Amino acid sequence: MAAIGVFDSGVGGISVLREIRALLPHEDLYYLADSRHAPYGPKPESYIVERSVACCEFLLAHEVKAIVVACNTATAAAVKTLRARCTLPIIAMEPGIKPAVAASRNGIIGVLATSGTLSSARFSALLQQYSGAAHIITQPCPGLVEQIEQGELHSPRLQSLLQRYLAPLLEAGVDTIILGCTHYPLVRAQIQALAGPAVQLIDTGPAVARQVQRVLREHHLLAPGEANGVERFWTSGEPAQAHEVLRQLWGEVEVAPMVASPGNAG
Ligand code: DGL
Repeated sequence: MAAIGVFDSGVGGISVLREIRALLPHEDLYYLADSRHAPYGPKPESYIVERSVACCEFLLAHEVKAIVVACNTATAAAVKTLRARCTLPIIAMEPGIKPAVAASRNGIIGVLATSGTLSSARFSALLQQYSGAAHIITQPCPGLVEQIEQGELHSPRLQSLLQRYLAPLLEAGVDTIILGCTHYPLVRAQIQALAGPAVQLIDTGPAVARQVQRVLREHHLLAPGEANGVERFWTSGEPAQAHEVLRQLWGEVEVAPMVASPGNAG
């Protein structure tokens, strides 16, 4: 049975991989961290499309049966292109505006995401469709992804970045904050501690895992429920560095370098 392929600009998609693993214990999961090219957030859209296509081609060369774009920024920039190029199911992320509007009591909602996501046409369309009467405050978070990529999950620098980005949202009185980048749930506890217990955090990772299950079921692609699935990890960056970070985020795993196969743009 083929595996499910999952990619992100780096280790952020691990927050989605955790949800997929919890829901689908029998599936093999292949994870590609495009760490050499992280962060995607501040890069031009054309660059993110090019990288997303390369990541998909790499996973296709490993004969995956479906691809999860575990990255809000790559979804916003590239999901249309990926769906036009690939025939297999592609499941993607987007910031949870709809669930946040449903969950908020005072209608004041903050969105933490990358500048790429927040400036995308896809995000504007999402706001238009679902924000209704809610007051939505967007906050880009430069530097945060870089800290997480370095495995600095508890550093003073991470703490001060979080404080800086949460301050305007808390001053505006948000009762709900959307984690609109897959890296951010990896520091969810730190965000919750700064925001306080009255603020609810919205992460679409669990909904995306359920969508993966639904789509695989529709295509009759679910793995038969016997053996436990395995995970394999690749990075376009330094395997030793990825190994170090993944040890904190997932456990002791082997990380292979992303080497493009001939004729495959990697
Ligand atoms: N984890 C990604 C996202 O969900 C991208 C972060 C980045 O590379 O800037 O948006």
